[in-house]
Amino acid sequence: MRRSIGILTSGGDCPGLNAAIRGVGKAAMDEFDMAVIGFRDGFRGLTQDRILRIDGEQLAGILTDGGTILGTSRDKPHKMPIGDRTEDMTQAAVDTYRKHGLDAVVCIGGGGTQKNALRMADAGLNVITLPKTIDNDIFGTDVSFGFDTALEIVTEAIDRLHSTATSHHRIIVVETMGHRAGWLALGAGIAGGADAILIPEIPYSIESVAGAIRERARRGRRFSIVAVAEGAMTAIESEKIEELARQKKEADSKKERKQASEELAEFHENHVGNTLKLTKKLEELTGIESRLTILGHLQRGGTPSATDRILATRLGASCAELLHNQTYGVMVAARGDGFEALPLADIAGKKKLVTEDHPWVRTAELTGVCLGRP
Ligand code: F6P
Repeated sequence: MRRSIGILTSGGDCPGLNAAIRGVGKAAMDEFDMAVIGFRDGFRGLTQDRILRIDGEQLAGILTDGGTILGTSRDKPHKMPIGDRTEDMTQAAVDTYRKHGLDAVVCIGGGGTQKNALRMADAGLNVITLPKTIDNDIFGTDVSFGFDTALEIVTEAIDRLHSTATSHHRIIVVETMGHRAGWLALGAGIAGGADAILIPEIPYSIESVAGAIRERARRGRRFSIVAVAEGAMTAIESEKIEELARQKKEADSKKERKQASEELAEFHENHVGNTLKLTKKLEELTGIESRLTILGHLQRGGTPSATDRILATRLGASCAELLHNQTYGVMVAARGDGFEALPLADIAGKKKLVTEDHPWVRTAELTGVCLGRP
């Protein structure tokens, strides 16, 4: 009997999603004679049975397009926002899957998607996932698609900021995405020759960054570029956040956990805008005029790089092969030029963060980049 699969894209969008949809779709339809449907707006479409029939026509010309033809959302099946409350819509997702007689559903997304996909697998669906995110923080895969394109965008931005920083003898702080992981700031900072790079994994001291900038000025370098991941924090903030997270984990009662949770959320909320405070403080401590550039969603937009197109296409095509072989409950991780099918249970809920001993960290320090260490 002809097999049928569904595809959805979930979480923040990124370049390469359409290439992945096309990779899965073309291989599934043309090579393995499967029927393919898409669900709109991530898990929300699966719970609400909003579909897009996929055929050759839908897949034509999308390889180079940014975004996702399916639409996306951050909605979770077990906590679906309905008006001002949330509802567990897991059964509705199962019902849609059964109604369409699907053999499997492909969930393309980041860390949150891996967790939601595992929940769907636990609810009885055959699930397979593909790793996407510009943050590159998905556990188990060498790299995720979207990252290479974002790296190019941020590097180009740093290149352009260099010339204006030089002309005006200014400090330019450039904020990249990355709440928990610093891959983008670190990679683009190295590629763009940033003078300081601040990432969430390495708590910083503003005085140490200011000291490095003053030292550059003494050597006649009157401008500096500081690449900062949005989640980077000072050593004091980092200690505070660890303490709140510990309180939440060790809370004895529901009330205490709720209080710690709220304090943690408030802390994160207050953290937004920190890069501006950092910029002003650097100006104050160095006496050098400073400006802030926040790259924001620009980093996620537009056409994917050739590297991301290849990565998304080959992982998508490998995904179709796995579906053909009825391998389910796995993420198709990039491993060198090939792939590895990793059980979702082994990767969901984990993050790939920059480690102290990562070669990029060593490279930055050996080439005189200040990482803000106190
Ligand atoms: O996809 C991950 C990410 O790009 C983070 O780096 C960023 O903080 C977040 O998405 C913001 O996404 P949104 O504004 O879509 O919620």
